Amino acid sequence: MRTLELPIKTDRLVLRPHREEDAPDLLRFSSRPDVARYLLVGPWTAEDAAREVAKRIPRTGLETDARGLALVLEHDGVVIGDIALWHPDDDTRLAEIGWTLDPDYGGRGFASEAAQAVLSAAFDVYGLHRVAAQMDARNSASARLAERVGMRREAHLRSNWWCKGEWTDTLIYARLADDPPPR
Ligand SMILES: CC(C)(COP(=O)(O)OP(=O)(O)OC[C@H]1O[C@@H](n2cnc3c(N)ncnc32)[C@H](O)[C@@H]1OP(=O)(O)O)[C@@H](O)C(=O)NCCC(=O)NCCS
Repeated sequence: MRTLELPIKTDRLVLRPHREEDAPDLLRFSSRPDVARYLLVGPWTAEDAAREVAKRIPRTGLETDARGLALVLEHDGVVIGDIALWHPDDDTRLAEIGWTLDPDYGGRGFASEAAQAVLSAAFDVYGLHRVAAQMDARNSASARLAERVGMRREAHLRSNWWCKGEWTDTLIYARLADDPPPR
C-alpha cells in the first residue's frame, strides 16, 4: 500500500493528523447535543476529548501500524471538523469512513470537500476496492453527504442497533473503486 502524503490540501481545507492541542477545538462542537444526537457516543466531555485525541494521534494512515487515518479539518487555521478512514475487518481493501462537522460551519460544503478528498486518497493512493459509511437512519444530513460524494445507499437495516436507550435503524452507503465519480 502506498504512503499517503499529509496534509491533504483542498480548495478551502487542510486535512491534517490530530495533535494533543486539538482537544479543546474538537470539544467545542463534539460536546453539542445536536452533533452527538445520531452518534454512538457523546456528547463529549473534556475527558472524552483528551482520550479520543490521544487515540487518534497515531492514526496517520491505513498503511501505518495504526491501520487508520484520523484527520482534522482546518479552515483558515480553525479546526472545524474531523474525518476518519479505517479497516472494519482484516481485509485491507475495504474501509469505512466517518465524519463530523462543527454546525457553525455547516451548509457550506466543507464536509463534502473533506469526504471527497479522503475518498480520492482511499481509491487513488490506497487502491481500496470499497469504502462504506454507516449511519443512524434519521441522520439525513449524513445520508445526503454520502450521496453527494458518490456513495450509493445499499441497505436500510431495521432496528438493528441498541443505542442511547432505544433500538435504531441503520443506513449503509458505499462507493466502489469503479463507481462513477460524483457529478
Ligand atoms: C453529517 C454532517 C457532517 C453534514 O454536514 P453538512 O454541513 O450538511 O455537509 P457539508 O459541509 O458537505 O454541506 C453540505 C450542505 O451545504 C450545501 N452547500 C453549500 N455550498 C456547498 C458547496 N460548495 N459544496 C457542497 N455543498 C454545499 C449543500 O447543498 C448541503 O446542504 P443540504 O444537505 O441541505 O442540501 C453534519 O451534519 C454533522 O457533523 N453531523 C453530526 C455528526 C454526525 O452525525 N456525523 C455522521 C455520523 S454517521
